[in-house]
Amino acid sequence: MSLESRVLTGYIPKHIAIIMDGNGRWAKKRNLPRTFGHKKGSENLKNITSVCNEIGIKALSVYAFSTENWKRPKEEIDYLMDLPSEFEETFKGKFKEEDIRVIFSGRRDRFPVKVQELINRVEEKTKDRQGLILNICFDYGSYTEILEGVKAISESYKKGEIKLEDINEDLMNSHLYTKELPKLDLLIRTSGEERISNFLLWQLAYSELFFAKKHWPAFNRKELFKALDNFQKRNRRFGGLKGDKK
Ligand code: IPE
Ligand code: IPE
Ligand code: MG
Repeated sequence: MSLESRVLTGYIPKHIAIIMDGNGRWAKKRNLPRTFGHKKGSENLKNITSVCNEIGIKALSVYAFSTENWKRPKEEIDYLMDLPSEFEETFKGKFKEEDIRVIFSGRRDRFPVKVQELINRVEEKTKDRQGLILNICFDYGSYTEILEGVKAISESYKKGEIKLEDINEDLMNSHLYTKELPKLDLLIRTSGEERISNFLLWQLAYSELFFAKKHWPAFNRKELFKALDNFQKRNRRFGGLKGDKK
């Protein structure tokens, strides 16, 4: 049986997340500017999103720009800020045919107005689609996400809308950007780095982690199936005993 057929007969995760790392190194190896790596990376995102939708994954969260990435040179930031607009044709065309919904997670106040408008437009236009939800984490950081949630909950408590006993996991989940998404099954990070870099800290509590050697632009369909195959061989115990079901 081929790798693909084997994976397709197994448990398909509901929600996967990808730290799309290594665009710069991919380009450098080819003597190309870093921005070229980002271009290839964004094309790859379109392909991988379609594959995930095709095989029945419900949600794909991708790390596209972190709250710390503002430290990069202005030229690179400007290029990255332009990428969502390059995606707009895909949102309207290919993703429409494939019924893919798009949401954005992260701060919105630091983007150029053009980018803020685009985000609102895309979320609104795709909101009734029934296929995969592509969650683009853009100016995203877990510390910010969790702190914003904590502040909102504190406000509700101060106003007497909730009691101390109401503060539980479900309430916290409902204050995160991922509130509409299924539990996170699997995190993939490309390019060989084995760290989380402030991504989905709360959501990762019981996710499986997979670190791929390939840089993001080279992480193709085959590599995704290898990661899924590896995921399906794991024994997720959630604190219980060996053999407990997912
Ligand atoms: C990931 O690739 C994309 C972003 C962080 C925007 P990098 O730009 O981090 O590429 P490397 O890690 O420097 O190779
Ligand atoms: C994480 O990658 C952020 C994105 C992929 C968008 P970085 O390249 O920014 O992370 P570090 O600096 O290697 O931890
Ligand atoms: Mg990097």
